[in-house]
Amino acid sequence: SEAVDAGIDRVLWTEAEIAARVAEVASELAADLRRLPEPVVVVGVATGAFLFLADLVRRVGAPLAVDLVRVESYGDGTESSGRPQVTADLKVDVAGKHVVVVEDIVDTGNTVSCLIAHLQKKGASSVSVCTFLDKPARRTVNFQLVGDGKFYRGFECPDSFVVGYGMDFAELYRNLPYVGVLKPEMYNKKTSN
Ligand code: PRP
Ligand code: MN
Ligand code: MG
Repeated sequence: SEAVDAGIDRVLWTEAEIAARVAEVASELAADLRRLPEPVVVVGVATGAFLFLADLVRRVGAPLAVDLVRVESYGDGTESSGRPQVTADLKVDVAGKHVVVVEDIVDTGNTVSCLIAHLQKKGASSVSVCTFLDKPARRTVNFQLVGDGKFYRGFECPDSFVVGYGMDFAELYRNLPYVGVLKPEMYNKKTSN
């Protein structure tokens, strides 16, 4: 068993388990992308998606463009404010293109919902969502995909505060190669962001 870092209660998915599942999701996505007439635009959501994005696109053997957006909720602690905004926009023109949004986690659904609306407004032909983790217990927004867009997910996540593999608490833990549950005392104590 691997060493558990300070502040981590337990490991949910090890580095090896993540790699195996990411390979499966990448195969599924690649098979769908190969049926499309043109290269798609894969849009990673900074910052949390950076590791999943990198691992995923390296395993999708289809031509694609990669871009990043930043969507911020201006919340703090463990709760998002529920009013996300796109604070750093795409470089690539997505009008008439098939787009795949890549996320580390879909929690309330506010972030992907905001981004789907943003991409639809820019004229994307379809918008799919590929998320490493899906936490349906926390969903408050029933987002709709665009066109023939599909929903892909790595794992269903229990309703715990998870960190690692891109996911943070107060910007820390993103670099953990595994996903773990944060010790409650870490976020229960007062933090000054
Ligand atoms: C996290 C996560 C998702 C979003 C999911 O991002 O990376 O983008 O929250 O939550 P939601 O479904 O309730 O909107 P965060 O806003 O913390 O920014 P980060 O990626 O920079 O950590
Ligand atoms: Mn994020
Ligand atoms: Mg965060």
